[in-house]
Amino acid sequence: QHYSIAVIPGDGIGPEVMDEGLKVLKAIEESHGGVRFACDEKPWNCDYYLKNGRMMPENGLDVLKNYDLILLGAIGAPGVPDHISVWELILPIRRAFQQYVNLRPVKLLRGLESPLRYKNHDDLDFVVVRENTEGEYSNMGGRMHQGTPYEMAVQNNVFTRYGTERIIKYAYDLAEKRPKKRLTAATKSNGINHSMPFWDEIVKEVGKDHPGIQTNLYHIDALAAYFITRPEEFDVVVASNLFGDILTDLGAAVVGGLGLAPSANINPERNFPSMFEPIHGSAPDIAGKGIANPIAQIWSLSMMMDHLGHYEIGKVILDAIEQVLIDGKVQTPDLGGRATTKELGDEIVRQIHLA
Ligand code: NAI
Ligand code: MG
Repeated sequence: QHYSIAVIPGDGIGPEVMDEGLKVLKAIEESHGGVRFACDEKPWNCDYYLKNGRMMPENGLDVLKNYDLILLGAIGAPGVPDHISVWELILPIRRAFQQYVNLRPVKLLRGLESPLRYKNHDDLDFVVVRENTEGEYSNMGGRMHQGTPYEMAVQNNVFTRYGTERIIKYAYDLAEKRPKKRLTAATKSNGINHSMPFWDEIVKEVGKDHPGIQTNLYHIDALAAYFITRPEEFDVVVASNLFGDILTDLGAAVVGGLGLAPSANINPERNFPSMFEPIHGSAPDIAGKGIANPIAQIWSLSMMMDHLGHYEIGKVILDAIEQVLIDGKVQTPDLGGRATTKELGDEIVRQIHLA
């Protein structure tokens, strides 16, 4: 099968980890005959913004729409405010293409130790389903009375019935397919007294259609603590846009750091391309040194294969990552080693060819 992929390497370590991701795609083509990827690189990043005054061309979304898939490295550079780089590239893609599910596995890979040392591997394996199009990142609100003592800023949360139902339904459907038959919903209905009670009601409504799933509603503050103290309890965690964003960086820390955490922005109806990316940003503190961990990017390709229904290839990629971690010889500095991005990528490619 042939797939067309728009590749947006982005800024900072984005292009560095993307190079390794593209090597992995090539290795899959060579070793697992049948799938072919036609990749087109798009130079849309902060440099592009500084030259052209926009993060992508005016018809950028129309261009992307024609691809089967989008692969993103990371966006963000010190010279461009984040509310521009993220709001003019990543968020428009997620919204225009109705990628309303942001899937973020929290899974301790074999070969790694969690900072929570007393947990074993099977206990640290769940998925966060983050709402990806509305909620707290609404773009509705404004600023007033700037430069006066009465200055104020208002940002509205938007929770539509349509948007809330579809993410909760997706999360329940996923819970039905997973082993523990458990769904945890992040809420804060004690403090946020309109949108969060609404969210809770919809969780309970949709939950009625899933009698085999045990549902828990936890306030976000307690839930954050439970990520540390009892992660073995979780299987599918569903959260609004902001809560999901924060929970998944925490989840990444629990399983070894941002260099290991992938994500998928899924359009379940498949009428637009879905997008795959690491959770991490452009990491200006290590950019250009060639030491970023490429695993998050490469794991996002495994998620892409699963999305395409090529589960066996998805597993080949994840197994290759785990084998390299078990061997423990080639590790980037965030894993405690001295290897470069390229060396770790090469080692994963080698394992793919062995599989
Ligand atoms: P960040 O994720 O770029 O970095 C946070 C910390 O994690 C840094 O110490 C960094 O060195 C480390 N880190 C991240 N990825 C790593 C990897 N693959 N290997 C080893 N270490 C890694 O987050 P930060 O510093 O808050 O943001 C930097 C820029 O990235 C900002 O402009 C921000 O807006 C942007 N950003 C973009 C995202 C995206 O493209 N989806 C997501 C998050 C932030
Ligand atoms: Mg984040």
